[in-house]
Amino acid sequence: MLIVNPAYPSITENMLVPGYWGELARPVSVGGRGGAWFVTTEFGDMVLREYRRGGMAARISAKSYLYTGWHETRSYKEFSVLEALFRKGLPVPEPVAARAVRHGIVYQADILLRRIIGAVPWPEATNMADEGLWFDIGKTIRRFHDAGLNHVDLNCDNILIGNGRVYLIDFDKCDIRGSEPSGVTEWKLKNLARLRRSLFKRMGGVDIEALWRPLMEGYHGVSRQGAMQSQG
Ligand SMILES: Nc1ncnc2c1ncn2[C@@H]1O[C@H](COP(=O)(O)OP(=O)(O)O)[C@@H](O)[C@H]1O
Ligand SMILES: [Mg+2]
Repeated sequence: MLIVNPAYPSITENMLVPGYWGELARPVSVGGRGGAWFVTTEFGDMVLREYRRGGMAARISAKSYLYTGWHETRSYKEFSVLEALFRKGLPVPEPVAARAVRHGIVYQADILLRRIIGAVPWPEATNMADEGLWFDIGKTIRRFHDAGLNHVDLNCDNILIGNGRVYLIDFDKCDIRGSEPSGVTEWKLKNLARLRRSLFKRMGGVDIEALWRPLMEGYHGVSRQGAMQSQG
């Protein structure tokens, strides 16, 4: 199976094989579990990701998943989620292509995305501890929640900062639910709790308790000016 974004008609299946790119593919070293490469192509800078398991399952089979239909593959699902979010104008990488290769009862999968140039994972950002940034991150997460996105792996490495903007990435296993703009339901709280835990793991030396407040103010739509006045 190969899905290609119609805006990139000359993409072929071999372009989703990391080895195809040779020197033009460089492993993404920061964040993630490996299996991601930055690739320079004639269509622009891309990120190629191979689906890999983490934890115990990786010891049994790192790259193979049980095949239950093309539309059930990890790559097809992530491509669809990204396409929907991108179309709504949310800050996500543009999906370029997705592939799944079946071998009997299992499959392996890859996805090709447009690289967000100049963006780095939140813990690597020079302004990572700026209140204003935490506020903007809260606001951005809220936009995604209002669009119904349940980001099941919302950790700080899946939030990229660059060009003065906040992006969400890594939508493997995520789903878009019916939009519920006002209610902060259980899955939304779970997303936020997951993010908070990751901050304590990844941001030593940062006063997370204090900065969580502007993040929540951004999330709840408190005006930034109001937030600053209430502190002074
Ligand atoms: N579209 C993108 N633009 C720029 N960097 C990216 C992009 N997608 C992924 N990355 C980088 O690659 C890392 C791993 O990608 P990610 O999609 O989070 O996969 P995983 O966490 O499963 O390895 C990210 O933390 C980020 O540093
Ligand atoms: Mg990730």
